[in-house]
Amino acid sequence: MQEIKEFNKIFVANWKLNGSFAFINAFLRDIKIDFTNQNKACIIICPPYPYVKDLKSENFFKGAQDCSIYSKGAFTGEISSEILKDLDCNFCIIGHSERRNLFNEENKQIYQKVSNCLNSKIIPILCVGETLEQKKKYQTKEILTEQIKKGIPSESNNEKLIIAYEPIWAIGTGLTPSVEDIDEIHNFIKKDISGFENYKVIYGGSVNSSNSKKILAIGNVDGVLVGGASINIEEFNKIIAS
Ligand code: PGA
Repeated sequence: MQEIKEFNKIFVANWKLNGSFAFINAFLRDIKIDFTNQNKACIIICPPYPYVKDLKSENFFKGAQDCSIYSKGAFTGEISSEILKDLDCNFCIIGHSERRNLFNEENKQIYQKVSNCLNSKIIPILCVGETLEQKKKYQTKEILTEQIKKGIPSESNNEKLIIAYEPIWAIGTGLTPSVEDIDEIHNFIKKDISGFENYKVIYGGSVNSSNSKKILAIGNVDGVLVGGASINIEEFNKIIAS
């Protein structure tokens, strides 16, 4: 399993349902990673499944956007964590809000997927976050606690899993929480949920090249999960340089 503690900052690109061979060729040609940068960065690219194999580079890790709750057998259309391992995936996003909302994934399935990844020696990137309605009702901390407690199995620890705080109202909307709010929530996740302390916590939701520096400068932010801006190579280059 990849050691995550050696990295200062983590950058995850979630391409969602985007990409093509032409896009991958251009991406591999144009991505710029500055290895002289003192901040040791862990860059994880998560394309759609069929492209995982073609995205070969020594400069970044590969991740998937989801995996099956099943390990093997008669489950047409599913991709297991073992298959992902076979494709050299070291990371896998689990419980993204689009999976939770559009595909009705609940904490129970998410727990199973996280557990499968851990068994396959893949580092799960567990996404948690509140809706705008929950935020307005001051339920954010309660929701995050539930998603973390119900999503992370006891065999996990802070070296085997990354938590991504992604407020649902910030995903793809251009809205982000204030620096103070991100700091408070990351501090809460890192310190106050008993049994789950000191995990690496990255922020996701409308991260772009104009706000990445400010977000990454927050002490409790261990990195960023980038959706829309990760398929614009110029934008992504600026983000990983911040
Ligand atoms: P966004 O997506 O950067 O486009 O808001 C983030 C995500 O979906 O994880």
